[in-house]
Amino acid sequence: MDVSTRDRALRTVFWEGGNARSGHIKLIDQPKLPLALEHVTCETVDGACACIRDMVIRGAPAIGAMAGYAMVLAARDCDASASVATRVETLRAAKAKLDASRPTAVNLMWATRRMVELTEATDASEDLAEVILREAEALADEDVAINIAMAKHGAEVVQQGANILHICNTGCLATVDVGTALGVIYESFHQGKDIHAWVCETRPRLQGARLSAWELMREKVPMHLIADSAAGLLMHRGKVDVVLYGADRIAADGWVANKIGSLPVSIVAREHGIPVYVVAPTSTIDLEVATGADIPIEERGAEEVTSLMGGNRTAPEGVQVFNPAFDVVNPKYITGIVTEHGICYPPFTKSLRAVKETAEKA
Ligand code: MRU
Repeated sequence: MDVSTRDRALRTVFWEGGNARSGHIKLIDQPKLPLALEHVTCETVDGACACIRDMVIRGAPAIGAMAGYAMVLAARDCDASASVATRVETLRAAKAKLDASRPTAVNLMWATRRMVELTEATDASEDLAEVILREAEALADEDVAINIAMAKHGAEVVQQGANILHICNTGCLATVDVGTALGVIYESFHQGKDIHAWVCETRPRLQGARLSAWELMREKVPMHLIADSAAGLLMHRGKVDVVLYGADRIAADGWVANKIGSLPVSIVAREHGIPVYVVAPTSTIDLEVATGADIPIEERGAEEVTSLMGGNRTAPEGVQVFNPAFDVVNPKYITGIVTEHGICYPPFTKSLRAVKETAEKA
């Protein structure tokens, strides 16, 4: 696998229409999957915020790429004669809106910050929208290259014949292309390892059932879909060799925020001596956040829990609901964190700082 062999038109999110002035964002309409593979277009910052908030696009790296393209839309709202200071103000306002659309995945804030810093460094005589579009395209291409690198590093911990437990969706659909933890599964499979995946359905939004199962079946990777609550029994029966999942934010001390349900899976894995690897790009490591308790955890609407994908109601009218989208996993349950620059091992405080420095120099 390399970036050049991947088809850009199959990406989760991309810029369509050539230049920054006339083009728009095009993205896969994820709530429609697996029943239909359709795209939507997005031409305004408010539209991009709605796509992120409503999970038309989701997954930390994919949200980051989407936010990068959304900043092109903000830049083209700037008057041709605007000063650098005015342009910075406009992009900061767009950043504030985009960052608020989903609070946990740090890739979102990381991408918008990158675009604001670029605006500060761009002369007023340059066409800002074109400058931001070039950067957004670079960010998207980097995401694919990083995922390919992570897949190779991560495949080193997947043994021949391994049964892999996976939660949520961390594949092509959660990134620009390839994926993080699912990328490791694809790479291991393409290396000829006789692997099999246990795919947690991932209530309440069913990213495992709707998206990961769709992707794995398309790639012909052997798998079984399981109810989330079946994971413990499988581990107890010795049917899981390794747990792989992604991350939305990793604190400086190694606490990992990921899809709700990652914590119980990790605790049960530790109890049974099963290694747990988190697969995430260095952009997901947030050294400004000291520990897991400081990571903002998104709480979503009650309807996600009281009905099946907005359809059939499964709980009584008026029931009180608590619906956190993510949990935080204590690093004591994590064997290693796979990044594009290799695998970080405990003590994470040291290894995460070192890998961030490597990424900054690269
Ligand atoms: O709520 P989602 O679907 O955006 O949650 C996604 C996850 O939790 C993923 O595991 C995480 O973003 C890493 S994906 C490469």
